[in-house]
Amino acid sequence: MLTLAIETSCDETSVAVIKDGREVLSNIISSQIDIHRKFGGVVPEIASRKHIESINNIVQEAIDEAKISFDDIDLIGVTKGPGLVGALLIGISTAKALAYGLNKPIIGVNHIEGHVCANYIEHKDLEPPFTCLIVSGGHTYLVQVNGYTDYELVGRTRDDAAGEAFDKVARALGLPYPGGPVIDKLAQKGNKTAIDFPRVMLEPKSYDFSFSGLKTAVLNCLNQKHQKSEEIIVEDVAASFQQAVLDVLVDKSFRLAKERKSQKIVIAGGVAANQGLRTMMEERGKEEGIEILYPSRILCTDNAAMIGAAAYFNYKNGNKSDLYLNVIPNLDLK
Ligand code: KG4
Ligand code: ZN
Repeated sequence: MLTLAIETSCDETSVAVIKDGREVLSNIISSQIDIHRKFGGVVPEIASRKHIESINNIVQEAIDEAKISFDDIDLIGVTKGPGLVGALLIGISTAKALAYGLNKPIIGVNHIEGHVCANYIEHKDLEPPFTCLIVSGGHTYLVQVNGYTDYELVGRTRDDAAGEAFDKVARALGLPYPGGPVIDKLAQKGNKTAIDFPRVMLEPKSYDFSFSGLKTAVLNCLNQKHQKSEEIIVEDVAASFQQAVLDVLVDKSFRLAKERKSQKIVIAGGVAANQGLRTMMEERGKEEGIEILYPSRILCTDNAAMIGAAAYFNYKNGNKSDLYLNVIPNLDLK
């Protein structure tokens, strides 16, 4: 079964062709990051305009690279939310036009579910149940995945998302957007115990997260250093901040996995590309006898292949949309 999938929720225009939910025949990703970097973050209106300029060509590229014709497609999958309304609309309109023109079924996909499903592409034998930590630029969730379309939401951020915290701290350090990958690199050269930033665990049994206090602590630390004319060692700030984020993410993920007797912890979303997070999870996984899985870097950040996988598993489960499908910018996981 061939799924053509479209992702335009933020600043990547991406189209993929996926076979049977797990095999990537093509996954074209056109990133707008260089354009938005000048503004220090994603400018929604510019994102929409860039999507509309490139989407038709990228659909064609995905078809060509997959070496199929439009007639071979069995299903059209598209991100319906969460994301930027104007950006999502470009993907949804394109998907509807294709579904109508080709007379094929269409299915709207939750972008966050897509991030989880990237793991089914990477790990061909992976099946639910498992514990999943979803860490992206807009969302931070701890989820018990009980089936391919059955997500039990156990924890979430109460303020900033993990990726958002990386981006905001990077900005305060004068580093370019997106900050996550830059902090990741700098942190590898820094001393993670140089500054003792807070680890916000919330109530003892809570699986929720809060990162805005940590962000403020970093800002205060930088201001104090400026006032006292002390040298700021960017690598040390990056490493200490990153460690404070990771300690909380890893601790809560393992607590949930042990509570639910999960054999596996799966990491998903842009921050799953973080080397520090991967290493720390794997080291703890070895100690606890829990397998750690995450997608390759290209499947961690936004891409249409993961949307194709999510579309396939939802369709198999009997879900389907129609041509009244609309964007849901604030769509939640549940
Ligand atoms: O999942 P994603 O591509 O987009 C959303 O759905 O939000 O995630 C983007 C986020 C950004 O905040 C970016 O800084 C972060 O993922 N990110 C990273 C790394 N690579 C991307 N954060 C930490 N370390 C990385 N290596
Ligand atoms: Zn994403």
